[in-house]
Amino acid sequence: MIDAVQKGFFNLLSKSALLKRLASRYGMASPASFARRFIAGETVAEAIDVARTLQSKGFDLTLDHLGESVRTHQEADAASREYVHLIDVLMASGIERNISLKLTQLGAGVDRATCIDNLRRILEVAERHEFFVRIDMESSAYTDLTLDIFETLWARGHRNLGVVIQAALKRSEADVNRVIALGGRIRLVKGAYKEPPDIAYARKADVDDAFVRLMQRLLDSGEYPAIATHDPRMIDATLAHAEAQGLPPSRYEFQMLYGVRRDLQRALTADGYRVRVYVPFGREWFPYFMRRLGERPANVAFVIRAMLRDRGGV
Ligand code: FDA
Repeated sequence: MIDAVQKGFFNLLSKSALLKRLASRYGMASPASFARRFIAGETVAEAIDVARTLQSKGFDLTLDHLGESVRTHQEADAASREYVHLIDVLMASGIERNISLKLTQLGAGVDRATCIDNLRRILEVAERHEFFVRIDMESSAYTDLTLDIFETLWARGHRNLGVVIQAALKRSEADVNRVIALGGRIRLVKGAYKEPPDIAYARKADVDDAFVRLMQRLLDSGEYPAIATHDPRMIDATLAHAEAQGLPPSRYEFQMLYGVRRDLQRALTADGYRVRVYVPFGREWFPYFMRRLGERPANVAFVIRAMLRDRGGV
């Protein structure tokens, strides 16, 4: 219950124009600024530097050019062009060919046809260069539309495409079965959005139970699932199930966010497991950053300390 209140509070703050202005001014100003713990930088070049370092340490990667909830066709069109450009730049850089994106960045909130067209444009370029494209899952207002768009493009033959399912939503078991039936690849997460109690589990214990059930279903499905969590209990449950089923580490991967539980990321890689780090970058980092604070309010103390340090305080 506290988790839900926490998420709601930070969700509210993420809509504050004043906070956004302040954060934008101070959050990325210097290499030590607070937002850099979670955001690789505001430019592609900075993201590539971070990605190169991670790759040299044995991590797999997915890059996310941050942005969401665009309101006009022009903004959606611009975002999809930026992704096409990103693919070109990543090709030239030699960084792993894997990107993540949000459909509201491509116009899902404007209209379905625009969004499908923008995603198709990205997928066609991505396919030519063997990129994998993961559609992030946003709030429950977009679950149906996201799965519908995923299925539409899958039906048109796009196979370099995966989707995300949130354990917090009560509907997710049916959604997992729906995607598995197609042969699609799923990233399983707990869910970062504040959702109404009639459609989502409010207690952390219930979300965790659902996560374990869905993880087992995904590992059994054989469609190379991504188990995206920093929770050692979820990771142990995954390793135990994989071992019980005789699944080698090549049949699934773990995913974690840039800047979160780096110790765990290193330990799993050192033990021979695949860990993909989700590397977000771009100027529109504020909502993403606020979701990271909502997951762990202790991060607020970290931000305050970093701000005081930047201003010559502690
Ligand atoms: P949990 O929240 O229980 O945290 C377990 C432990 O991890 C904590 O005790 C703490 O040590 C550490 N931790 C977790 N979050 C932290 C943070 N922000 N800062 C510092 N430490 C933290 N969600 C979504 O709705 N749609 C999506 O598309 C995605 N995509 C996505 C990709 C990847 C690669 C990951 C790892 C996660 C997502 N998420 C997401 C976010 C996800 O839904 C969830 O909110 C976070 O992963 C936090 O949940 P955990 O599973 O880590 O467990």
